[in-house]
This record gives sequence, C-alpha cells and structure tokens, in this order.
Amino acid sequence: MNNYIKIKNLTKKYDKNKSIKVLNDISFNFESGKTYSIMGPSGSGKSTLLNLLSLIDHPTTGLIEISSNKIKSNKVENDLIRAKKIGIIYQDKNLLSDFTALENVYLPNLLITKEKQKSVDLAKKLIKNVGMSTRINYFPNELSGGENQRIAIARALINDPDIILADEPTGSLDSDNAKLIFKTLFNLKNKNRIIIFATHNRYFANMADCKIMMNDGSIQIINAAT
Ligand SMILES: Nc1ncnc2c1ncn2[C@@H]1O[C@H](COP(=O)(O)OP(=O)(O)OP(=O)(O)O)[C@@H](O)[C@H]1O
Ligand SMILES: [Mg+2]
Repeated sequence: MNNYIKIKNLTKKYDKNKSIKVLNDISFNFESGKTYSIMGPSGSGKSTLLNLLSLIDHPTTGLIEISSNKIKSNKVENDLIRAKKIGIIYQDKNLLSDFTALENVYLPNLLITKEKQKSVDLAKKLIKNVGMSTRINYFPNELSGGENQRIAIARALINDPDIILADEPTGSLDSDNAKLIFKTLFNLKNKNRIIIFATHNRYFANMADCKIMMNDGSIQIINAAT
C-alpha cells in the first residue's frame, strides 16, 4: 500500500488575530517511506502545521488528503483516523500522569481492539524495544525526561501508524538522550510509513530524507528526496 499525505493551498488563521496567516497557502506531498524534518524560527508555524496534519486542528482554507481520505472537519471521524493511522510525540507531557507507563502505552490500542490481554502483550513488546521493560509500572513523574519520551514513542507505535508526527521530541532533553530518541525514531522508518518531525537542531534535521524550512507560514524545500 502506498501511503501519502497531500496538502493543498493550506491556510491557517487563528481567531485571535485574523489578519495574520500563520500558514500561508502551503502545498506539498509527503510520501511513504520517507522522513521529513521541519525547521524554522520560533513562531514560523511548525507546530501549527503538525497540528493540522494530526487532525487535531483544522485549516482555515485548503485541503488535507491522507491516502485518498479527503479530511473533513468531522471530529469523530478524524479522531478515528488519528487513532488508527497517526502516532504523535510532543516535546513533553505526552503521557497521562495518573496512568503507569504500561497503561499509557496499551490504552490507545485497547480503545480500538477491545482485547486487553493482546494490547498489554503488544505494549510490553514495544516498551522492551525502547529499552524500558524495567519501568513498566512507573508513573510518568517517576521517569526521567528521556524515559518519558521513550515510553511516548512506544505509545505512538501501538497502533502501527502509517504516519508519525513528532514536534520537537527532544526539545527538553540533553544531547545523549536526544541522540537516543532520534536513533529510535529513525529506526521506525519503513516503506509504508511517513515520519515528520519539527526540530531546532540542524544535525537531526539533516538526517531526514527531505528538509522543510518554514518562514512566516511559508515552506521551502531544501533537499527534495529522490
Ligand atoms: N491557539 C493559537 N491562537 C492564536 N495564535 C496562535 C495559536 N497557536 C499559535 N499561534 C500563533 O501562530 C504562530 C505560529 O505558532 P507555532 O506554534 O506554529 O510556531 P512554531 O514554529 O511551532 O514555533 P516554536 O519553534 O516556538 O515551537 C505564532 O505566531 C503563534 O503566536
Ligand atoms: Mg512549535
């Protein structure tokens, strides 16, 4: 299956100030099997774009199409598409604080499959893959920043997403942990998957197949992937 995300003439204005186009007529195709980095100054629209791609927010005008699904502003439908197809990793506060690492990881799968034992088993496997098996019963506030991010990656993977979106996933980590998280993230690359991450770190941005530079709500492609 060939997955893609097509965005066409995307514009975003927030209610607070309708004279500012935070995203200004952006068109682009993201292709499966590729990694994309988004760089750009603070306020240039990186998180806004990722929030549109994750179907959490809606564009003011323009079109988003995910593998032939034309996205409408139907919350229930979009929540389902997100749950099944999209894994999201934020800079921090990814995990629900009242739930253990294991619960945080298996719950999104349980919601879809309704099969607890299978969800728990799968979660344990993913947690093992990020080297966190000894911490499954820890709560987020009992984990370090890097450990929280590794659990967040396991959680983002639980429904085997076609799309992984990461918004400055190492923004609050030291450089060793940042390297580990990006190594884990790049290991998730496969031919059916699109990985898009925003970062302020040039070194990690350069590791992507395609670099997208944002400035004042517009994008520029630095090295189109071949
Ligand atoms: N909910 C909101 N309401 C009004 N304006 C917003 C809202 N969210 C973001 N903005 C504005 O949109 C612009 C882009 O913000 P965005 O968070 O996308 O930037 P960014 O590139 O992710 O920056 P950073 O590198 O600091 O994370 C900013 O000028 C911001 O003030
Ligand atoms: Mg941001």
